[in-house]
Formats: sequence, structure tokens, C-alpha cells
Amino acid sequence: MQGVYVVGVAPRVRWKHPQPMPAQGDTGTLTGVCLRPMRSRAVKGTYDVLPDAQPAWTQLERAATRVLGHAGMQRLTTPVFEHSEVFDRSVGESADLVVQKEMYRFEDRGGRSLTLRPEFTAGVLRAFVTHGMHTWPTPVKLWSLGPAFRAENVQRGRFRQFHQLNAEFLGLPSPLLDAEAIALLHDLLSALGLSDLRVKLGSVGDPEDRAAYNAYLRDALAPHAGELSANSRARLDVNPMRILDSKDESDQALLAGLDKPLDRLGPDAREHLDQVAQALSDWGIAFDMAPSIVRGLDYYRRTAFEIHAEGIGAQSALAGGGRYDGLVETLGGPPTPGIGWALGVERVFDAMREAGTLHTGAAKPDLYLVPMDDLAVTEAAELARSLRQRLTVTHAYTARKPAKGLKDADRSGARFAALRGERERATGVWTVKNLATGDQFESTTERLADTIDGTS
Ligand code: HAM
Repeated sequence: MQGVYVVGVAPRVRWKHPQPMPAQGDTGTLTGVCLRPMRSRAVKGTYDVLPDAQPAWTQLERAATRVLGHAGMQRLTTPVFEHSEVFDRSVGESADLVVQKEMYRFEDRGGRSLTLRPEFTAGVLRAFVTHGMHTWPTPVKLWSLGPAFRAENVQRGRFRQFHQLNAEFLGLPSPLLDAEAIALLHDLLSALGLSDLRVKLGSVGDPEDRAAYNAYLRDALAPHAGELSANSRARLDVNPMRILDSKDESDQALLAGLDKPLDRLGPDAREHLDQVAQALSDWGIAFDMAPSIVRGLDYYRRTAFEIHAEGIGAQSALAGGGRYDGLVETLGGPPTPGIGWALGVERVFDAMREAGTLHTGAAKPDLYLVPMDDLAVTEAAELARSLRQRLTVTHAYTARKPAKGLKDADRSGARFAALRGERERATGVWTVKNLATGDQFESTTERLADTIDGTS
């Protein structure tokens, strides 16, 4: 007769430390090395991606591979640190990263100044120059995914190690490429299930427009410098345009009657912007003209844009980017126009969570093998190895009583448990239990994979 195994009531799980932790301030010595208590927390502004959060990353990577790949984009991976010069030459002296000293910079043993990337564009363009990509078919379209580092004030949506999915489109000055870049970003966010999106399109103009606008703003605001917030006062000299981004109410009141960057675009930048807008309209991508869009990095020329999500709080900018003609030259390459964007992975995940489209949950085994005597432990390990060609299989590493083994199987999240003891061995079978329905049956070792595949 077939035995019936049942899952017992799970006991309260109590966390036991494998070894007693030294009390705060305690020290010990181990082979002469002084041991201080470990700091058991991740560094402020950083976090661990636990197993149940991993599916979101797979979801993002798959969507990007499909949506961007179908547009002829290729994936590029660059190092997380570069010679500091790469960033010094590109992000610009008045960028927040520089002014607010947000870059993680260090000297290596050879005395070289290195910087953890605060963004991808500089490193991607450095790689473009290093590998002579200007000889590749134009436009060169590259996407990347990985961590970036900024020493910022930590809050919701603002981390010190965060992640960007970055895209660069190099080699053409055409407004069609700007529109394609923005449309692809929109397509990718849509593929991730986000629909409550606001595309803000603007232009920071050509360098001369920008200089003229900055001069205009400086003249207009200088008599009111005392009324500006401390931050904006500091920006008045370095980069007055960034004052437009201030959240301070009195700053905004002072700006109210003044021209916006879009009011003062030169004819070329204006025409370029109109063409980008036309293409987006033709493709049915809704956007708002943003007369005073300003970006935190100095390298932008002409097109600047952001995509915001409703409902995720103050840090609603999911992504941002723009055109940066001239930047490849600054990094020692041939004249190469380009445009790009980066999305903030944490913010996109936040928005996806709100929208209910984020994939979560740790991977679960199909089958958990429960050996009920010592011989079955070896049999389980061997069977697991052979079944892993087709199924996700885990097992207990010591003999288990049926109730305990089934409890383990349940905790693992497996769909099925298969038990083996003396009785099963005698007839060459495993007792299989469907952990969702409670159904129990016997299966030969040879048929086990088929049986489980068939019931999935
Ligand atoms: P960005 O606007 O500085 O642009 O960053 C792009 C996105 O990264 C932001 O919209 C935001 O979602 C995310 N992000 C930025 N800082 C943080 C942070 N501290 N914590 C969490 N998320 C953050 C760039 O980085 C440009 N390189 C984009 C680009 C590419 N322009 C041309 N090509």
C-alpha cells in the first residue's frame, strides 16, 4: 500500500545567529589581527538586490534587448571607473556633479586619479573614441546597463549607487535621430507597462543661444540676488540657467515674468526642435513643450528632454537626455554629433510597482527531493543532477522524516516533492506529492521528469 505523507504545521522560525556577534565596542584577536565588530549594513544610499527582486532586472533586460535591439541598437559594457579626466572634460564645470562635489574620486596605487562613473555618456563616448567607432556604419547606436555613483542627499528615488539604462545615438545631426531616440525611450517604458508618462521636450539651444540666455538671466536676476535662495545665488555666477530648476517659491516668483530658454532660441535650434516635435507628432507620441527645461549636465546642445511618471513623488524624472554635438571632440575623437538618454532603473521600478507591472518573487524549484534514509541521500543528489537538464530540482542533504521533509519542500516553494525510502527503493519508485493540490502518487525514476512536466 502506498504510504501517505503529510505536511506538518510549520514551527515559528526563530533567527539564530550562527556565532554570537561581539557586543558593540568589543574587539577580539584572530592570529594577531584586531577584529572590530562588522558593520552589518550596506553603505548609506546603496542597497542589495535580493533574490525576490531579481525578476525585475530580467524583465528590464529582456524588454531592452527586444525594443532597443529591434531598432538596431547594440549593447556595450564599459568599466565602472574611468580616468577622472574623462568626466572632467565632459560633464562640464558648472554641472551639479562638479559644483556639489558629487563624484566619487580616488587615487589608485599608481597615483592615477580615477572616478566611479556618475553617468554613462562620458565612458561610452570614451569607448567610441578608443575603438574608432566613427568608422562603423552610421549612426552607431549603443545601449548599456549598470551602476552609477553620485554622492547625493539620499531620499526616495535618489541613491548613491543607482543604476541606469543608457542609450547613445552617434554620428548624425538629423532631428530624425532625436525623435527616434525619444520614441525608443517611450517604447521601452511602455513595454514595461508604464502608461502614465509625461514627455517633456525642450531645447537648451546652440552654445551661442545658451551663452546669450545665461547673460540675459544674469542681468535680470543680479539686482535681486539677495532675494534668491542660497543655491540659486551660487548658480547666478556659474550657470544661471539652472536657477530655472529651483523648487524655491521665491526663486520661481522672480523668474515668473522672465523669458524662458525656448523664447530665445536661435533660428537653427528652433527649426531643429520643430522638426523633432513634428516627427514625434507624426508617430503619435504625446509630449509637452517644456519652455524651461534645463539639464544638470553641461554638455547638452539643442534638444533636451525628460520623461516623468505621475504618482511616484518628488523624484518623478524617470529618464532624461539630449543632444551633445561636440562632446566626442572634447574626448579626443573626430567631430561626431550625438544624442542620448538614460533612465533611472530604481525610479522606473518604483513606477512599475505603482502600476502593478513589476515582476517579483524568487525563482522556485519544480521539484524538491526528500531522502528518507542515508542511501536515498545519494540517490536524491544523483537524480537531481540528471533531472536538472529539464527541471529546477533541489533536495535535502541529510535523511529526513517525511513530515519534516515535506515542510522543507513547502518552504522551498517547489511545486512537487518526491520522497524516497526503503519502501520506494524496493519497487524502484518515488512517492510524489503535488504540493499545491495535495495529490499523491508514485512515479518511477525514469518517468519522474515527464510526470512533472506533464502536470505543469
Ligand atoms: P541624468 O538626468 O543625470 O542624465 O540621469 C538620468 C536619470 O538617472 C534620471 O532621470 C534619474 O531617473 C536617474 N538618476 C540620476 N541620479 C540618480 C540618483 N542619485 N539616484 C537614482 N536615480 C538617479 C544623465 O545621466 C545623462 N548621462 C543622460 C544622457 C545620456 N544624456 C545623453 N546621453
